[in-house]
Amino acid sequence: MRAAIDPFYAIGVSHLAHELKAKGASIIHMEFGQPSTGAPAAALAVAHKVLDTEAMGYWESPQLRGRIAKHYNERYGLEVASSRILLTCGASPALLLALMSAFSPGERVALARPGNVAYRNTLKAVGLVPLEIGCGAQSRFNLTAAQLAAIDPAPAGVIIASPANPTGTIIVADELAAIAQVCRERNIRIVSDEIYHGLSYREPARCILEFASDAFVINSFSKYFSMAGWRLGWLVSPADRAAIPRAYASNLFLTPPSLAQHAALAAMDAREELEGHVAVYRRNRDLLLEALPRLGLRSIAPPDGAFYIWADIAHLTDDSLSFCKQLLRDTGVATAPGIDFDPIEGGHFIRFSFAVSTPEVEEALRRLEVWFADRARGGR
Ligand SMILES: Cc1ncc(COP(=O)(O)O)c(C=O)c1O
Repeated sequence: MRAAIDPFYAIGVSHLAHELKAKGASIIHMEFGQPSTGAPAAALAVAHKVLDTEAMGYWESPQLRGRIAKHYNERYGLEVASSRILLTCGASPALLLALMSAFSPGERVALARPGNVAYRNTLKAVGLVPLEIGCGAQSRFNLTAAQLAAIDPAPAGVIIASPANPTGTIIVADELAAIAQVCRERNIRIVSDEIYHGLSYREPARCILEFASDAFVINSFSKYFSMAGWRLGWLVSPADRAAIPRAYASNLFLTPPSLAQHAALAAMDAREELEGHVAVYRRNRDLLLEALPRLGLRSIAPPDGAFYIWADIAHLTDDSLSFCKQLLRDTGVATAPGIDFDPIEGGHFIRFSFAVSTPEVEEALRRLEVWFADRARGGR
């Protein structure tokens, strides 16, 4: 099995940022969506203690699975048996396991374009066929029930993401219900990426299980819980399929890191600290939304959640990768090129991540204002 997988171009931008930093440049990292805040204090305290007291063998924490089940009840009013929850090394393997458990090689799976680069590539890696559906500003870059209903013949599955990467937009409850209805009627299996849940600035995102109890749901401690490097996430499977990803996981990965599982259990109760991060992201989002139009970036979908802004730069370039590199060299501000998220139209988009500190956003904006003004005058 060989599938051509595209590189993640933002990694190239990030390498350049580190090279420039090593030469003394002042860099602001807005290219990746990762919190700079670190794990919650309570999680770190538990980790320190566990390091001294536990042997830490292969282990999947029953307490953490139970706590995640409780989280579904607290946050969405859902009853999810902990036997349906599989702990994974982040949402990335959870996606892989969901796709392997839900579909057979050769089947077609629909997804929004723009979307997370890993969806397309993971689908290809397991011999599935990505069916990218162009989603524009009119649907706030989200896949709609009408688009799903129009795919002929019906695909075997669909990946939905709300809040989405790279746009931060949320699929509202009515639309989620309509998507679930179309999927029921057309026998389309849903895989829902809910990694940005908890990071919302208007209405909270709804869980697909409220509308389709047989969906696969992936989630992670990397974003809201600020524990990206701890490599821990989870997969919720339909009750009648839960044994399949578990069998794959025990062969492919054994278990996720024990230390991360102990720490994550404490992180789940660190609400006050974590909500403090959300308040920072909200402020960063507001600063960017207020300033970007002044830079000439008027075509943006205000994000409902996550920590991204997807900005149209068609008036400046159709080569977002070169654009991002030039922007980085000139200003020290690293951003992600749109081609990572949209192979067709991404040449004229860039993604800003605002998972940095507010002073960093302020400094980035000071630098960007000068650079974009110069660019608009044809100065570079
Ligand atoms: C939408 C989305 N899903 C999944 C992931 C993977 O996250 P992780 O494997 O760190 O849990 C990311 C990472 O940025 C993402 O943006």
